[in-house]
Amino acid sequence: MKETTRLTSATYGRANSRRAVNTPVERGSTVLMESAEVLYNDDIKPTYGTDGLSTQTELCRLIADLEGASEAYILPSGLAALTLPIFAFLAAGDEILVANAAYRPVRRFLDTQLKRYGVTARYYDPALTAEAVLALATPATKMIYVESPGSLTFDIQDIPGIARLARERGILTLCDNTYGAGVLFKPLQHGVDLSMQALTKYVGGHSDVLIGSLSVSDPKLGKVIYDTIKAWGFFTSADESYLASRGIRSLHLRIKQSGDSALKIAKWLEGRPEVLRVVHPGLASHPGHDIFARDFTAANGLFMVLFKGNGEADSQAFLNRLKLFGLGFSWGGYESLATNCEPQIRTRTRIGDAPDPYREGSAVRFYVGLEDADDLIADIEQALSVFSA
Ligand SMILES: Cc1ncc(COP(=O)(O)O)c(C=O)c1O
Repeated sequence: MKETTRLTSATYGRANSRRAVNTPVERGSTVLMESAEVLYNDDIKPTYGTDGLSTQTELCRLIADLEGASEAYILPSGLAALTLPIFAFLAAGDEILVANAAYRPVRRFLDTQLKRYGVTARYYDPALTAEAVLALATPATKMIYVESPGSLTFDIQDIPGIARLARERGILTLCDNTYGAGVLFKPLQHGVDLSMQALTKYVGGHSDVLIGSLSVSDPKLGKVIYDTIKAWGFFTSADESYLASRGIRSLHLRIKQSGDSALKIAKWLEGRPEVLRVVHPGLASHPGHDIFARDFTAANGLFMVLFKGNGEADSQAFLNRLKLFGLGFSWGGYESLATNCEPQIRTRTRIGDAPDPYREGSAVRFYVGLEDADDLIADIEQALSVFSA
């Protein structure tokens, strides 16, 4: 069966008894066991709520299917699904190489928390080739963190190349696959060891849930993840899991609609005189477009535009004129959003002599949701007078 069929109907053959379509919310801390003999039987799960009851188990099954994984784990946020594997696989004296465009709070975790435990984070320019990234590795390098397209800057990385070379050297790769959402890109099929997703975004799809996932194809890695989650006592609620499972049923349709509308708007913006540059990996003008087109089936609804403006002041004035786009930091929901992103993109460290393509203009990140694309274009158009033509 095709992936969309499996994700929407596989659980439900003909039922033995009357029941709801979706696996319902099963809440519980205490789990009542059928006899005294099985109380300490480790083969019987769950024995306690933190093991996850049927709602969490169903979500893990769906995510594993979506990511092409042998197993998937869930965590209370996307950020937790990034920090946990880093903590689980690194120890004092180890080093992690991190793409410079990584989701920013990960850097905060590495530079403050993990540093205290003797782990060093080194940041590399995401524009580097796979060979150049691996050339930075030392015997202490135990993990390489990839994110493509990169948060805010949309840098494209050669993930299959990095994963292959890292594996040859016994270095684990961790991929933030939130952009691809398991639909547009499947990191494990490209040799990545750990594929993470903020299910908060497209999978949740309605901006009302915080949850993350971590998928693996090697059961040995899965055991380390499982043991670390248990050791820390992290637990993901049945309500959040239910909402994420429900989101998966319509994920493919939503991400396609959002991505198609975004591409239409990005192409329209490319022809506008107020625009310096549209940064969208699905456009041929994007420097990483060839690798993106090789690895991804399509683009999602996120992109950035550099307008002919005077930095942050003009991008803020533009945002304040928008009526249909909400001003908020997330994405993946049904509603379109916009933020200015000067502070973040201008302060990122470039390595060596690499030019910073984002030095000029006023930068705005758009997330295109499920509204009609022509209505969104009209909204952007009425706000463009802020910039010079
Ligand atoms: C690329 C990316 N990774 C991870 C996260 C973290 O997800 P969460 O908000 O669920 O912690 C985000 C959230 O903005 C994100 O954009």
